Amino acid sequence: MKILVINGPNINMLGIREPGIYGKNTFADLLALLEQTAKEEFLTIEQYQSNHEGDIVDKIQAAYGNFDGIVINPAAYTHTSVAILDALKAVSIPAVEVHISDVDAREAFRQISYAGLYCEKTIKGLGLKGYRQAILYLKEKYA
Ligand code: DQA
Repeated sequence: MKILVINGPNINMLGIREPGIYGKNTFADLLALLEQTAKEEFLTIEQYQSNHEGDIVDKIQAAYGNFDGIVINPAAYTHTSVAILDALKAVSIPAVEVHISDVDAREAFRQISYAGLYCEKTIKGLGLKGYRQAILYLKEKYA
């Protein structure tokens, strides 16, 4: 099974960015966790991070026919991007949304998720562990 993990803007700043909210784990720690999960679970996992909305749309489109599942943390684009929602709908690949922080307990503008309107599950507030849970969910349901 091939899973694409997409991370939106500023996720590459993990460990530096607002550690009180996102924790002290670094982006390199996230990449290591994905690599370890791929090995343990016999999955092919590709990670893509971009700070640019259109590049994320391009990556989702390119996943068509190439991936069996998508784990996506659209970061700030969660709350603004109809384009990312439409791209997910266009490729129709099973997807799970992840947020490192508990967005429910944060500002009002974080309460809307456009990507979440497509994703079949949302995991939030579990830190990096949320990515592993999302991958295991897709494996259990679709592998
Ligand atoms: C985030 C939550 C978003 O509101 C924020 O803009 C992010 C990260 C999270 O993982 O908790 O950049 O998606």
